[in-house]
Amino acid sequence: MNHKISFAGPSITEKEVSYVLDAVQNGWYEHCEDYIKRLEKAFAEYVGVKYAIAVHCCTHALHLACAALGLGEGDEVIVTDFSWVATAHAVAYTGAKCVFADVEPDTWTIDPDCVRKAITPRTRAIMLVHSFGQPAMMDEIMKLAEEYGLFVIEDAAPAVGAEYHGKKVGSFGDFSCFSFQGAKMTVSGEGGVLLTDSEDLYRKAYRLSDMGRTDREAVFWSDELGYQYTISNLSAALALAQLERVDDLMQKKRNLFERYDSDLGGIGKIRLVREREGCRSNYCYPSLLLPGVSQEKRDRILEALRARNIHARPAFPRMSRFPMYEQRFENPVCAAIEQKGICLPSAANMTDEDVDFVCDTFLELL
Ligand SMILES: Cc1ncc(COP(=O)(O)O)c(C=O)c1O
Repeated sequence: MNHKISFAGPSITEKEVSYVLDAVQNGWYEHCEDYIKRLEKAFAEYVGVKYAIAVHCCTHALHLACAALGLGEGDEVIVTDFSWVATAHAVAYTGAKCVFADVEPDTWTIDPDCVRKAITPRTRAIMLVHSFGQPAMMDEIMKLAEEYGLFVIEDAAPAVGAEYHGKKVGSFGDFSCFSFQGAKMTVSGEGGVLLTDSEDLYRKAYRLSDMGRTDREAVFWSDELGYQYTISNLSAALALAQLERVDDLMQKKRNLFERYDSDLGGIGKIRLVREREGCRSNYCYPSLLLPGVSQEKRDRILEALRARNIHARPAFPRMSRFPMYEQRFENPVCAAIEQKGICLPSAANMTDEDVDFVCDTFLELL
């Protein structure tokens, strides 16, 4: 194959171009926030929550969620051990401590039994991830949260469109966060959104995202140490156009996964990550485990794929092993995924033939 098969990448049409062009040409003066407001309204409606704040990136949304919930020194937050490190760093920025819990082997999302084991009198919140677009086990997690009086933050960075028992992910927790970073399903280069159903939490988070500005005693008055986390109108224009195409973009991802499933699903040495019954994944990053393969061999396969212009990725290392964190639990499922997990390419420009080529090459190397 003489073209590069990218790991991820967006689908950009005339719609995106026209929205961005309009934002550049007209999105100033009294129109300088038009796309931001439209994006916030559309995203909240799509997920089915009341309030949205569009921000510069999902990491900022996660941090705002932690800060608005008042997490800080002396608090513990139970965090999935399997994620991009933004999930944990956002908690740590507040001074709260991350206690890392294992995931369950079928969907790589946080295991409610491991959450229960990690709860102490200091626990204040659960930070879960809808990993690679697979919905986490929300019924069990929300029950635990209620039983122990814990906040729930959904890191849904890659999971726009995914559903748990007919309800969109991002509509369960006190806060949820999505990303428009360039490798996600709906992109704006950098961008993110914070959602909540609570007016009080919305107001707190909004003020923090806007430098703590209140205008209370004077215009430009600030009442707390806030952050400059707002999104630009230009990025919002791109994100809005993508959101308006979200059903098509998700169908494309699901088609790519179906093709992977038909090529690789029947092979005993490979365990594909599939949506759980009653759930709908957006298959943002189709992934698999090679149970019988060593980490060295997994890495050699990835290197050989790269040499043939196929960009697959290893799964995340456990964040609990990073030098700034503490490992309270071994988390064996995350350990196995760290060593034997692979994410397959699923860029929006891929064809069925590309998937077949990836699979043929992968099986030959395996
Ligand atoms: C699970 C998860 N959380 C958070 C983030 C951070 O998103 P952003 O790059 O928009 O800050 C990512 C990005 O890849 C992610 O995958």
